[in-house]
Amino acid sequence: MSFIPNKIFNPTGDDSVQSRTIIKGNTTGLFNLNNTKYTRAKSMYTVMIWNFRVPEKVSGLNEDSIQYKQELTDGEKRAYDGILSFLIFLDSIQTVNLPNFADYITAPEVQLLMSIQAYQEAIHSQSYATILESIVDANKRDEIYYFRRENSILLERNTYIGKIYEDFIENPNDENFFRGLIGNFLLEGLYFYNGFAFFDTLADHQKMKATDRMISYIRRDELTHVTMFTNILREIKKEFPAMWNEKLIYDMFTIAVEQEIKRTEHILGDNVIGINKNTTEKYTKRLANNRLWLLGLDPLYPEVTESPYQHLERLQDTNGEKTNFFESTVINYSQSNGMKWSREF
Ligand SMILES: [Fe+2]
Ligand SMILES: [Fe+2]
Repeated sequence: MSFIPNKIFNPTGDDSVQSRTIIKGNTTGLFNLNNTKYTRAKSMYTVMIWNFRVPEKVSGLNEDSIQYKQELTDGEKRAYDGILSFLIFLDSIQTVNLPNFADYITAPEVQLLMSIQAYQEAIHSQSYATILESIVDANKRDEIYYFRRENSILLERNTYIGKIYEDFIENPNDENFFRGLIGNFLLEGLYFYNGFAFFDTLADHQKMKATDRMISYIRRDELTHVTMFTNILREIKKEFPAMWNEKLIYDMFTIAVEQEIKRTEHILGDNVIGINKNTTEKYTKRLANNRLWLLGLDPLYPEVTESPYQHLERLQDTNGEKTNFFESTVINYSQSNGMKWSREF
């Protein structure tokens, strides 16, 4: 079934709370944020707004610049560049693509969050620009931005994600929309995290601490994004059960986990103390299990029950706010905002 994007001016529409749905509603084009149906969205708004910060104000990047030149090994530099390159891509595609999905969301309170999200993704891009400006010269910066031109594994990865989004834009049907949502969910909830773990590991070794602080702010935002897509997906399951496709979810998770492990190993190799094939695999699978739990689904890797990076969790604290993303993560985080999660929904 094909989808029609929201009309921007539709005085005869009906977006009353009683008839409002997460998608496929009859929007009016008027943003009435006083009458809201999705109460979690309301709480999310506050959290997202309070996450505001200015990347240029993160201090210590000069020290990072000296460390990059004098203390990082060649392998660590390669990992630093390669991980940043992938993160830059992820945030770019989110900034560019989110409005395409928001056009089909028919609850103004959720559309509002997607606008804030797109803004935050753009701030993430600005954060990378600030990091790169401080750490490396102009030639190296370009190399990092366009690393995917030379690196086939990175290109394969980016192409997979890009195609999921392109497919929906070219052919906006139910299946492609649902695939796109799971793509967003994986991107926000899985793809970033080995990169984050890398920067945490460096910081744990007293290296590149300002970069890691910048990354912590980004992660804090990403956590709200994965929460938002969890909410959207849960609503879809309730309101449009025919669209909910468990096989597709598991298939996409399997591919994402394989690619994430392969890419991380390719970029990091055995060059960073504390990260190896085994930790990457465990971590990625543990994360996938956690994300499936959020969707009310059984783990894909029940044999993996612990994160190998528990010692890094203290680094995930920004302004006293814990952003640990395993059991406690989204659950505690949501509880603190009056939103209790349970697996059943
Ligand atoms: Fe982001
Ligand atoms: Fe995000």
